[in-house]
Amino acid sequence: MTNRLNGESRKKVIMTEALLEVRNLKVYYNTERGTVRAVDDISFNLPLGQNLALVGESGCGKTTVAKAILHLLADNASIRGGEIIFKGQRIDSLSEKEFDKLRWNEIAVISQSAMNALNPVYRVGDQIIEAIEAHQKIDRKSAREKVRRLFQWVGLAPERARDFPHQFSGGMKQRAIIAMSLALNPSLIIADEPTTALDVVMQDQVMEQIVHIQKESDSSILMISHDISVVTEVCQYFVVMYAGKVVEACTVENFHNMPCHPYSMGLLLAFPTLEGEARRLISISGFPPDLSRQIDGCIFYDRCPFRKTICQNETPPNVEVGPGHLAKCHFAHQAEQLRPVSQKEETWEPTMA
Ligand SMILES: Nc1ncnc2c1ncn2[C@@H]1O[C@H](COP(=O)(O)OP(=O)(O)O)[C@@H](O)[C@H]1O
Ligand SMILES: [Mg+2]
Repeated sequence: MTNRLNGESRKKVIMTEALLEVRNLKVYYNTERGTVRAVDDISFNLPLGQNLALVGESGCGKTTVAKAILHLLADNASIRGGEIIFKGQRIDSLSEKEFDKLRWNEIAVISQSAMNALNPVYRVGDQIIEAIEAHQKIDRKSAREKVRRLFQWVGLAPERARDFPHQFSGGMKQRAIIAMSLALNPSLIIADEPTTALDVVMQDQVMEQIVHIQKESDSSILMISHDISVVTEVCQYFVVMYAGKVVEACTVENFHNMPCHPYSMGLLLAFPTLEGEARRLISISGFPPDLSRQIDGCIFYDRCPFRKTICQNETPPNVEVGPGHLAKCHFAHQAEQLRPVSQKEETWEPTMA
C-alpha cells in the first residue's frame, strides 16, 4: 500500500482487516467501595489504515481501555476477561518484558499527562535518542539527525533538542512527546486527550500538527477525547463509550449524520458543529451511573429522554443498524424518528424525578 492515509484506499480496507481488536474486554478496579466495573465487556476493531476515536464523557472508561492496551493499568486494576489483539497477536497476555519490545516501537503513547512524561534532568533530545537506541541499532550521529528531523516535523526548531524540559512551554513539551511517539515509526499511536492540558490556541496548533503528521506517516491513531470536535478532524471511525460499555460504533460520517444511540445524539449537541452553525449547546442532564453498582437494563436509562419500561428491565442488545454500525439500544431501529426530537432543547431538560 503506498499511502494508507489516502482517502480512497483507506475506505476500501474498512472493516476488512484490523490493526487492533478489543474483544469482550473487562477491566475492574478493586476499591473500598467495592468493585468498579470501569470497562465492562467491550469490543471494537481499529481497521488497518484508519484512525479510531474513543469518545464519551469523563469517567466512562476510556483511559482504562488505553491503559489496558499499553500494560499500564494501576495496581488495583485487573483484566477480568476478554482479549486484546494487535496485528493478529494477543498482547494482553504478554509478559512485561515481551510487551516492552512493542512499546514505542510498535505501540506508542501520547498521554494525557505528557507534560510530566519528560524527565526534567535530561535534555529533551537526549531522551528521544535514548528511546530510539533502546530499540534500534543506530549510531549516535544518525540518532541525532533523526531527532532533528522529528523536531522539524512537529514544528520545533531542531536546535531546541539541546534544551531541558523546563525551557519548553506546555505546547512545546507536547510536541516533543509527539516527536518521541513517532521516533520509531510505530504502527499504532494511542493519544489520550492529547491537548486537554493546553490552552485553546495551543490545542489548535498541536491538533493541526497531529493532522499533518497523520497525512505523512503510516501510523494509525487511537485518539481518546471527551471533545467530539477534536477527534472528528482526525478519525474515520468512532467508538462511543458510556459507563464502561460501547454504546455505538460507526464511521465518523454516520456518527454525525445518523447517530442511533440516544447518548450519541446527546453528545453531538454538546459540541459546536464543524460548519459553525448557530445553535445553543445542550448538555445531557445528570451523571453517568455509579460503576460499583450492578445495573439491570440499559446503563443510559436514568438520562435517556426516550426511555421505556423495557429499557429499565432488559439489557439492550448490540443492534447492527447498518454495515459496521452498531448501537446498543432497544430502539436503535427507530433512531430516524428519534433524531429530530433529540435536536430539540426541551428533550434534554431535566425532568422532576
Ligand atoms: N485506579 C483507580 N481506582 C479506582 N477506580 C478508578 C481508578 N482509575 C479509574 N477509576 C474509575 O474507573 C472509571 C473509568 O475511569 P477512566 O478510565 O479514567 O475514564 P475516562 O478516561 O473515560 O474519564 C471511573 O469511574 C473512575 O473513577
Ligand atoms: Mg481519561
